[in-house]
Amino acid sequence: MCGIVGYIGNQKASDVIIKGLERLEYRGYDSCGISYYDPNNKKFVTNKDRGRVANLYNQYSYPDNNHYAIGHTRWATHGVANQNNSHPHYSQSKRFIIVHNGVIDNHKELVFKYLNDYEFISDTDTEVIVNLVEEFSKKLSIEEAIRKTISLLEGSFAFLIIDTENIDTLYAVKNKSPLLIGESDKGIVLGSDVLAFVNYADYYYLLEDNSFIIVKRDNGNFKFNLYDTIGFDLEVPEKQKMDFVTDELGKAGYEHYMLKEISEQPAVIRKIMSQYMVDNELKVSPEIKAMFTDIKKVYILAAGTSYHAGLIGRVYFEEIAKIPSEVFIASEFAYNEPLIEPDSMFVLISQSGETADLRSCLINVKEQGYKTLTITNVGSSTLAREADQYLNIFAGTEIAVASTKAYVGQIAVLAILANTLSKQHSLDLVSEMSRAAVSMENIIDKRDYISEIVEQVIISHDCFYIGRGLDYFVCLEAALKLKEITYLNTMGIPAGELKHGTMALIEKDVPVIAIISQDHINNNTRSNLEEAKAREGTPLIISLDNTSKGNDDIVLMDVHRLLSPLVTVIPAQLIAYYKAVELDYDVDKPRNLAKSATVE
Ligand code: AGP
Ligand code: GLU
Repeated sequence: MCGIVGYIGNQKASDVIIKGLERLEYRGYDSCGISYYDPNNKKFVTNKDRGRVANLYNQYSYPDNNHYAIGHTRWATHGVANQNNSHPHYSQSKRFIIVHNGVIDNHKELVFKYLNDYEFISDTDTEVIVNLVEEFSKKLSIEEAIRKTISLLEGSFAFLIIDTENIDTLYAVKNKSPLLIGESDKGIVLGSDVLAFVNYADYYYLLEDNSFIIVKRDNGNFKFNLYDTIGFDLEVPEKQKMDFVTDELGKAGYEHYMLKEISEQPAVIRKIMSQYMVDNELKVSPEIKAMFTDIKKVYILAAGTSYHAGLIGRVYFEEIAKIPSEVFIASEFAYNEPLIEPDSMFVLISQSGETADLRSCLINVKEQGYKTLTITNVGSSTLAREADQYLNIFAGTEIAVASTKAYVGQIAVLAILANTLSKQHSLDLVSEMSRAAVSMENIIDKRDYISEIVEQVIISHDCFYIGRGLDYFVCLEAALKLKEITYLNTMGIPAGELKHGTMALIEKDVPVIAIISQDHINNNTRSNLEEAKAREGTPLIISLDNTSKGNDDIVLMDVHRLLSPLVTVIPAQLIAYYKAVELDYDVDKPRNLAKSATVE
């Protein structure tokens, strides 16, 4: 979700902040802003508004000698997206300035109890934090005032605070929302994601919750001290080297990140194979295999696209590893916990490793003593660090909000995990995955053809994907892709369920797209499509060579039945992509959505 960047150093701070915010744009936001110290006029300047980070460059100029700044991209939770509610926010007297990521659940109670005399300029919960610091600083030191404020806050928060009377110090707090420290001999940078530090830090530090960071400029040097929120020193975590391939972060000649990431999927499968290859077999480590010894049931938890990968994972656990398993949407599990059998364990799936709904589940099931394994694309993420073990999907940085390559990476790793646990090692995964990668490449190469189909077929405001079994799970992902970037009303429906209600919505020109990759349901799904055709819906069929019949619209090279989701999802991703391009929408940053949902 929103992004935070802060900097004290000897480089041009406004550049560090704005470039950092640009790197965080993928997280999703609606407004942005910066506050920097202008030494020429000896005052802080704030530029902020609804809209894109590029506006911070285009609409303002910055003195070359500005060396202290904080910045923010906002994903509104309290108050509409407008200039007034954009961050940074000032305290009432204008002494303190804050940027904040997260939600303060008890902000109304805090105003009632401590801030009756304060006038609020915005509708945000954030303004309460900065005014509490101001109120408490009347009797306490700044550090103590911030500590007292933290002790009262309920919710998730990472924030940076400037005291305008002390331009050599920056205060930062992290609790449940992400915040990391970047370091070089040119300065200290704070940010919500390590990507914000590219080109500005040589090393970075991961922080635990309840960290209070004080960054200081000291005789031309820059250093930070780390405390817990009570005031005790915290051990500085091990420093990690910044080893980002910056090429990976560009669009590599593609018009959008989403198309680049769709095209990278065969390479992701090959990368996963190279990472998990042991003695010519694809396997997870013995430690991870051992976690499943005597486990009678696996619970899979995830959100969004990762949940859709989890649905496929359940089939793998049951069909390949023969371990009963269930899948839950994280936000549902958190408040509607089922009766969990003893000898169960939890597999959490998350591209970002930062999804708040999932993290609260992790904390909860760990407290109950269950073993936990995270499958993620970000080895340094909170969910990777806090689970007992994690498996990396090696998809490389995914920038587009609409997840594509992470989905296939998650499915591939789930297949390797289930196959390692299978007593018979039932699948020859090396050849089956290699074949899947080739089949993926074939359809990606023919993507122009899909853009033509989109122009002819996706012409109504509604669209339905139908399928059975594994195909149905891919339909859910296909529908999510289309709706999130084209804003069309799209649903994935079990093909046999169409007649039980949704058929009422089928009329002339409404596309009904059937995914048919499984031989045993081939005729059933085709019959359901005929029923939709009889109501004048426009049919479109995605099948494999061995399930295709007559003139199916998109026929994919055969792959193993269980690996079909790796391939059948690709035309659906391309359909969504080309429709969004045709509608001239912001493909990589769809409205209202954030890449990592760090609030519950
Ligand atoms: C995917 O296209 C979505 N943007 C979204 O559903 C996403 O998959 C979900 O928020 C979960 O994120 P995670 O995998 O990082 O936990
Ligand atoms: N809750 C704050 C707001 O609505 C911060 C939201 C964010 O994380 O961007 O302004």
